[in-house]
Amino acid sequence: MENCDVLVLGAGAAGLFCAIEVARRGRRVLVIDHAKAAGEKIRISGGGRCNFTNTGIAHDRFLSQNPRFALSALKRFTQWDFIARVDAAGIAWHEKTLGQLFCDGSAMQIVQMLLTDLARAGGVLWLGTTLGDVRRDGAGFVVDTARGPVQAASVVVATGGKSIPKMGASGYGYRVAEAHGLRLVETRPGLVPLTFAEQELAAMAGLAGVAVQGRVTAGPAGFDEAVLFTHRGLSGPAVLQASSYWREGDSITLDLARGQDALAHLRAAKAQNGRMALRTALGQLMPERLARHVEALAGAQGNLADQPQAALARVAALLHGWELRPVGSEGYRTAEVTLGGVNTDDLDARSMQARAVPGLYFIGEVVDVTGWLGGYNFQWAWSSGWAAGQVA
Ligand code: FDA
Repeated sequence: MENCDVLVLGAGAAGLFCAIEVARRGRRVLVIDHAKAAGEKIRISGGGRCNFTNTGIAHDRFLSQNPRFALSALKRFTQWDFIARVDAAGIAWHEKTLGQLFCDGSAMQIVQMLLTDLARAGGVLWLGTTLGDVRRDGAGFVVDTARGPVQAASVVVATGGKSIPKMGASGYGYRVAEAHGLRLVETRPGLVPLTFAEQELAAMAGLAGVAVQGRVTAGPAGFDEAVLFTHRGLSGPAVLQASSYWREGDSITLDLARGQDALAHLRAAKAQNGRMALRTALGQLMPERLARHVEALAGAQGNLADQPQAALARVAALLHGWELRPVGSEGYRTAEVTLGGVNTDDLDARSMQARAVPGLYFIGEVVDVTGWLGGYNFQWAWSSGWAAGQVA
């Protein structure tokens, strides 16, 4: 029977990074993945340039039933530590916006860095290999695989979440967790476009393709970034961010004139030129198609001079607080991440080891820790992988 010290299930960001750390400690490590290539999500991330971390990493930018769980790993292996690895590999990078760091060249440079580090440290990688049950075997484990059973002292589950099944996401890690008595926090798609009912969509039909710098609020969180109207509903970074905080049945609020005082603008325009069309004044704040839509929604038309103060106030209130009720999201098909997962109460925050199952570890997206858009999720993969890699 194949035998190793540490068997890492999943050759994504978290699994590869963890395996490197384990192998550098002189442990015999085997990484198994059912995909044909390792690090597929890294390859397609950040539009092919991989937004590999964020300078603004802070634990309150992660969603979890226990928001403090991620603190230990994030503090012990920081964004600066990962940047040092990227620098050491000679990969050029740049900051795009909001602390988001991308490769200058290609995301494949990060995949290559990880594979090179793994090979140099003596780690072994099996691709295209289906996984079966993970069973306790004395003090260790036996894992069924398409190449036969593998015996290991420790098993690290790094098989990610449910997002993008076409890319190999399987929910396998949740099943392993449950089989060993760990609890799960209900999973749902995160960082995902929101969809609307037919009637609302029909009313917004003319807006598909319009983008605006706005603010989207869902529950306790508000995000100042671009909002994009699509044929199915709303997308763009502000909407993706808000989607992680949105719950079915809730509404979201759009501020389409973020940072501006729409009422003061409309009043000033009216005082200056009463014959100016309302939509023209609105068009000074936002794209024309959106201006026309807001005008129609507010039931106000004609010249500014025709608008009583109450009408201008109504338009301005709509601009700053347009309430919309999504019916759903585009789901795991397009979601960048999976919210929920292995309950952090059942894991040790320092090592990521299951409290009740010595030798069994969970890292990366399979755990109930989900970051904001912008490099936060890869940093969680590196940090949690590193933490387990020191002890497994
Ligand atoms: P990941 O999903 O990366 O890896 C899991 C591995 O397990 C995969 O290789 C999979 O094949 C394997 N696996 C699953 N089930 C298996 C089974 N049953 N048997 C065997 N193997 C199995 N984040 C970020 O910080 N910056 C960014 O730029 C982006 N961009 C981005 C774009 C897109 C399109 C998506 C979908 C996601 C992102 N993300 C992101 C999120 C980021 O990709 C994600 O958080 C990490 O990849 C999670 O790393 P893990 O290693 O935990 O899972």
